[in-house]
Amino acid sequence: MNADPKKAQTLIGLSVVFLGLAAAFLLDLWGRPEPLVILPLVDAAITNTATVRMSAGELVRTGGDTSGLSCYTCHEKGKPVEVHFDTNNAIILPQEHNDLVIRHGRNNRNNHCFNCHEAEALDMVKTRDGQRFKLTESTMLCGSCHGPTYRDWEMGVHGRTSGYWNRDLGPITRQDCTSCHDPHAPAFPLIKPGPGPHPLHPRASATKGNH
Ligand code: HEC
Ligand code: HEC
Ligand code: HEC
Ligand code: HEC
Repeated sequence: MNADPKKAQTLIGLSVVFLGLAAAFLLDLWGRPEPLVILPLVDAAITNTATVRMSAGELVRTGGDTSGLSCYTCHEKGKPVEVHFDTNNAIILPQEHNDLVIRHGRNNRNNHCFNCHEAEALDMVKTRDGQRFKLTESTMLCGSCHGPTYRDWEMGVHGRTSGYWNRDLGPITRQDCTSCHDPHAPAFPLIKPGPGPHPLHPRASATKGNH
């Protein structure tokens, strides 16, 4: 290799320039680093995936307190239970059932206890055509009056579907109607909306007035 002083000079010069640049980048001489934006954590209540209420079925499956479902700790088998009404045809509840809010439909079209409960076996529900189901199987009862919604639910359009898309890998699971609707006052409760997405450039968008 014959020494070419010009070439050597250029190479040394370039090396110095690149080393200088590397040092400048490392030391961040021109940098105007954005201060890190600390994203506030989303309220855990918003990311909680539990349904808004616990159905009788879920209560039994998870080993919760099912004493409220044992009607015959208080009622006597074989003794008919009478439903009481006031002069406006609203149901009067005894103190023992004061915790129930009875408002099925905005016009109270389905409040009568024995539209759903079986008078002869209080701990069962009964459809209009006389089929009996356990309190834990009440989705079948709801479906007997809310046919279109039940059909949507079966197809996964209403309610919430979890489990496997590929049924070969495992089953699909659907939530009971009463995991979301109180059978006695089924209008879905208002829930607090979650926060919007965090903007990528909060300051830039703030100055432009966008979200
Ligand atoms: C803690 C005790 C207790 C339990 C548990 C209980 N009941 Fe009652 N219930 C009462 C009492 C007391 C009354 C009023 C006296 C009566 O009608 O026998 C009553 C009344 C009723 C009535 C009539 C409502 C009215 O307008 O007066 C219905 C219907 C009823 N109960 C259904 C049920 C069903 C269904 C269950 C189980 C899922 C149940 N009860 C569990 C104590 C209880
Ligand atoms: C639309 C159908 C329907 C009507 C009407 C209805 N119930 Fe129920 N009730 C149910 C179902 C379904 C359950 C099981 C609850 C669950 O899965 O959460 C239940 C549960 C109960 C329970 C036990 C659990 C609890 O929530 O405390 C009592 C007590 C009860 N019902 C009493 C009554 C009384 C009294 C009336 C009339 C005033 C009445 N129900 C009207 C469907 C109904
Ligand atoms: C015997 C028939 C019958 C049964 C059983 C029944 N429903 Fe209903 N449901 C009605 C009627 C009637 C209305 C009122 C419709 C209206 O006012 O437009 C209603 C209304 C509703 C609404 C709308 C409430 C609102 O305020 O807008 C929901 C949600 C609902 N039912 C859920 C259920 C669930 C869940 C079950 C099972 C636990 C059930 N229903 C069982 C007859 C029934
Ligand atoms: C995972 C929760 C969830 C489940 C499970 C669920 N629902 Fe709903 N349901 C909702 C929500 C949310 C709404 C909408 C409420 C609103 O628009 O205010 C609703 C609305 C309804 C309405 C009122 C529709 C209207 O036009 O006003 C009926 C009736 C109803 N559901 C019945 C059922 C029945 C029957 C089942 C079971 C087969 C069921 N739901 C299961 C969450 C659920």
